[in-house]
Amino acid sequence: MSRSSTPAGKLRAGIATTAAIGAVTVTYAAAIERRHWTLRTAELPVLTPGSAPLRILHISDLHMLPGHRGKQAWVAALSELRPDLVVNTGDNLSHAGAVPAVLRALGPLLDVPGLFVFGSNDYFGPKPKNPARYLMPQGRKKRVHGPVLPWQDLRAAFLEHGWHDLTHVKRVVTVAGRQIAVAGVDDPHLHYDRYGVIAGKPDAGAVLRLGLTHSPEPRVLDAFASDGYDLVLAGHTHGGQLRVPGFGALVTNCELDRTRARGVSRWGADMWLHVSAGLGTSPFAPVRFACPPEASLLTLVPRGTSTPAAHKAARWNAQSTVR
Ligand SMILES: [Fe+2]
Repeated sequence: MSRSSTPAGKLRAGIATTAAIGAVTVTYAAAIERRHWTLRTAELPVLTPGSAPLRILHISDLHMLPGHRGKQAWVAALSELRPDLVVNTGDNLSHAGAVPAVLRALGPLLDVPGLFVFGSNDYFGPKPKNPARYLMPQGRKKRVHGPVLPWQDLRAAFLEHGWHDLTHVKRVVTVAGRQIAVAGVDDPHLHYDRYGVIAGKPDAGAVLRLGLTHSPEPRVLDAFASDGYDLVLAGHTHGGQLRVPGFGALVTNCELDRTRARGVSRWGADMWLHVSAGLGTSPFAPVRFACPPEASLLTLVPRGTSTPAAHKAARWNAQSTVR
């Protein structure tokens, strides 16, 4: 009898095989998929009837480090898409020295009208955490903050280029010659949200009522829906970051149900939700699996004139034919 045919030998072979598969998977998740930049597209019937389509580029969760040169180049090239509006739903920074890197990435897009809210990873740097914490229910997590980040510098640069900070701000902006009513909250993940500051019906004369939040917490989504918003954009979830093929996200890192961890979904009878899976990870958990880093190009069309196409994801390179 050979050694490998004994029970102990079979156990050793099984452990070795499992370890090898695990090592290959982790290597793929850390070295390949994490840099598999993807453009997700979707069509949403949310505009006032008779309006011309409006194209929004949704960027979230860059988690930028100064050395993320590939990500910076890919994001900068997104300007070729010529969106009407850029929306940034926060978590831009993973390092106190990353503001110039974020501005390198977003530089060409800063000439496009833009809206933003910040997330926890704009205010505080990352800290090493037990990866198992990510799989724990929210209530059992003890919040751990890293060092304070230079979010005021980033905010000042965005404002200098004409982007609007929607942190507890409600206003009407003109985009591509049309008026849209916009509002946002500070990061609900940190319990910084004070929806009461922006509560109330948005401008009924606008072609779109758009809400922003970093973390798609149901209490905030319910409030936007109750006030009559057409669409809310959010990030934070990283799409689950590690997804099981055929099952999807295991967690959302917030109270949102896992089926909405990324992409388009309905929230109530009249509101749409788009959650970006984002473009980064914590530097202490630099892996993504079945959930490539993404930006989203959302084409908004009039209500009732189209069935939204299933959202699609694809590799996108600069000078591609995507327009
Ligand atoms: Fe994030």
